[in-house]
Amino acid sequence: MEALDVLLNRVSVPRLLDPAPDAAQREILFSAAMRAPDHGQLRPFRFLTVEGPARERMGDLLAEALRKSGADATPQALDKARLGPLRAPLVVVVIARLTDHFKVPKQEQLITAGCAAHSVLLAAYALGVGAVWRTGELSYSPIVAKGLGLAADEEVIAFLYLGTPQNPPRVAGKVELVDFVSEWQG
Ligand SMILES: Cc1cc2nc3c(=O)[nH]c(=O)nc-3n(C[C@H](O)[C@H](O)[C@H](O)COP(=O)(O)O)c2cc1C
Repeated sequence: MEALDVLLNRVSVPRLLDPAPDAAQREILFSAAMRAPDHGQLRPFRFLTVEGPARERMGDLLAEALRKSGADATPQALDKARLGPLRAPLVVVVIARLTDHFKVPKQEQLITAGCAAHSVLLAAYALGVGAVWRTGELSYSPIVAKGLGLAADEEVIAFLYLGTPQNPPRVAGKVELVDFVSEWQG
């Protein structure tokens, strides 16, 4: 697929089936992430792949985090949390690692991690792999961070759900650029 086709047309694919992206496709997905713009070449991100029965363990972790959060953990909400990771054959957890750096503020490191996640989505679209970026409050739970093995300077920024599209990707709507682009003349 042409690069501009991907940049202009990428859309999320929420309904995902088996199979998960294969090894060659994953190599491309994660290699694309390594080309994220990155002040200081810190690579302030890493990925965890979660698939097969590990998705059920991740669902249990999310449900536990919800139960202990103090939020209204209804049986329906707990079920939703538990079943979430089963919505795709592969979940990629994108983790930002934000460290004190003499020149690169944490804000910039976070942006780089976001760009890396976006690159995975773009590469997925180019490969015909369905993908969607999800978070939700539980992404920011300390219980989830601990269960996933995050270090103190790490945080979850994305759960990327990946798989085979159930339906053809939708056509992205046209956006009026005039609302977003203007000239500054000093
Ligand atoms: C940081 C971040 C978190 C998001 N979290 C969610 C989420 O939890 N649930 C959801 O439905 N969409 C979430 N989205 C939005 C979708 O990934 C998607 O971009 C949006 O539905 C628009 O669809 P499109 O990508 O096809 O334009 C998130 C996007 C970003 C960048």
